[in-house]
Amino acid sequence: ILATAMPKTMTGKRILVSAGPTQEQVDPVRYLTNHSSGKMGYAIAQAAKNAGADVILVSGPVHLDPPPGIKTIPIISTRDLEKAITEAFETCDALIMAAAPSDYRPAVYLDNKMKKGEEDLSLALTRNPDILSAVKEIKKPHQVLVGFAAESQNVEGYAQDKLKRKGLDMIIANDITAANAGFGHDVNTVTVIDRAGQVDHWPTMSKDRLAAQIIERVDKLLNEKKS
Ligand code: CTP
Ligand code: CA
Repeated sequence: ILATAMPKTMTGKRILVSAGPTQEQVDPVRYLTNHSSGKMGYAIAQAAKNAGADVILVSGPVHLDPPPGIKTIPIISTRDLEKAITEAFETCDALIMAAAPSDYRPAVYLDNKMKKGEEDLSLALTRNPDILSAVKEIKKPHQVLVGFAAESQNVEGYAQDKLKRKGLDMIIANDITAANAGFGHDVNTVTVIDRAGQVDHWPTMSKDRLAAQIIERVDKLLNEKKS
């Protein structure tokens, strides 16, 4: 479907999307990160805009152009992401957390470049905040929360668990071991689980098509809360 031909069902709704990885600084020249490309989150932000929504995109460092007409807030670390999301969430109808925040950061940031020494080296890490769990605490009943789960085993089980633990309305799970799908690719194969317990296995499709379908489901969830 052409973007211009899409029904503007989300006019007047404000959608917050997160995308991409985070970077956790070790010292002035090094950081911890992951393989998230940001493609899925950017496609979702675009799909929401195509549906007529007012979109805010909070993005980690990615090699993608900021989508025209979408307010894009750049962040680096998980703690930056938490601050940007919790601030923007208040005025939004839905949050779609497609970002891949680092669960840990170095326990101490070194102001000077670390010098090499012994043969073995361990790096002490400390837990980062869980953003969806923080949002769950400030969420009003009309607001919709959507999460992702990238798993390498027990995909449905872990996703069900995250849906409950993080108080989500819907979770989109993907098996990162599946060929040609997921990180960095233009297609994805996902299982969608909603708060009512409905489990849908969607066929492999482009991230753009998938984004449009996710937005359609988010719209449905928002309408269910209104009625
Ligand atoms: N997420 C988050 N804050 C974090 C880590 C993850 O809000 N600090 C969000 C992700 O954006 C995603 C969902 O939580 O929408 C699931 O992320 P995932 O990494 O699969 O779950 P975790 O709870 O971090 O569990 P684990 O990594 O141990 O599987
Ligand atoms: Ca994680």
